[in-house]
Amino acid sequence: MLRILNLEAGYGLLHILKGISLHVLPGEAVAIIGANGAGKTTLLKTIAGILRPRSGTVVFNKQEIHRESPEKIVAGGCSLVPEGRHIFSTMTVKENLLLGAYHRRRKCTAADIAASMEEVYDLFGILRERANQLGGTLSGGQQQMLAIGRALMSKPKLLMMDEPSLGVAPLTVRDIYKTIARLKQNGLTILLVEQNAQMALAVADRGYVFETGQIVLEGTARELSDNPEVQRAYLGKDYQKINE
Ligand SMILES: Nc1ncnc2c1ncn2[C@@H]1O[C@H](COP(=O)(O)OP(=O)(O)OP(=O)(O)O)[C@@H](O)[C@H]1O
Ligand SMILES: [Mg+2]
Repeated sequence: MLRILNLEAGYGLLHILKGISLHVLPGEAVAIIGANGAGKTTLLKTIAGILRPRSGTVVFNKQEIHRESPEKIVAGGCSLVPEGRHIFSTMTVKENLLLGAYHRRRKCTAADIAASMEEVYDLFGILRERANQLGGTLSGGQQQMLAIGRALMSKPKLLMMDEPSLGVAPLTVRDIYKTIARLKQNGLTILLVEQNAQMALAVADRGYVFETGQIVLEGTARELSDNPEVQRAYLGKDYQKINE
C-alpha cells in the first residue's frame, strides 16, 4: 500500500529525515516510535504532501505521490490525523466532519456523505451527542476523536495518525485505541506515530524505531516489545534504575 525509499527531508538548512525506507502492507497497522524530535511528524507531513522531500520516493497504491499536493493525496486515499489535532474550533462538530469529506462533494451524493457521518458517529457516540457543539469547546480526548472522525470522512485507504494519545486522559486513550483496533479489524490500513510506545505496539503488527531521522530498529510489534533497548528507552521499564 505504501512504500518509501531513501526519503530525505528537512526545513531550510535543517536536514531531518536521513534516508528513510519503510513500507506498509494492505490491512497492516504499523507503528513508528521514537523520542521527541526524532522526525516522526516530519515523516508523516512528507507523506501527506505538506512538506516536499529533498530526495527519495513515496509510492502509495502504486502511484508516486511525493510531488503531489496534499489535496490530491487525500483524494487518493491517504489521510492524516495531525499532531495536535488542528480541528476548527469555531465550527461545530458536524461542520468539522463535513470538511473531512470536502473532496468527495462532487463525486458523492449527500446520502453517501451522510452515511459516512453515521459511521463516524457509530464509532464515537460522543460526537453524535455533541454534533452541534463548537469544536473548540470539546475536551482534548473528544477533539482527538473529532480529528480521527474528520480524517475518516475522506474514506481513506491508509489512515495516518500522529500521536493520538497526546494530551488525552488515560481512560480516553484506551477508548481511542480500542477504536483504532476496531478500524484495523474492519480492514483499514494504519500508520501510527506515537511516543506512547506501549499503546502503539499493542495495536500494531509491526513497527519502526526512529532516532535522529533514521530507522535504527524494525520488527514485529512482539519483537520490539521484547527488545531490551526498546523497553529501556520507550516502554519505561528502567524506572527502578532511576530510583537506585
Ligand atoms: N517547521 C519547522 N521548522 C524548522 N524545524 C522544524 C520544523 N518542524 C520540525 N522541526 C525540527 O525537526 C526535528 C524533527 O521534528 P519532528 O516534529 O518531526 O519530530 P517528532 O519525532 O515528531 O517529535 P515529537 O515526538 O516531539 O512530536 C526537530 O528537531 C524539530 O525542531
Ligand atoms: Mg511529532
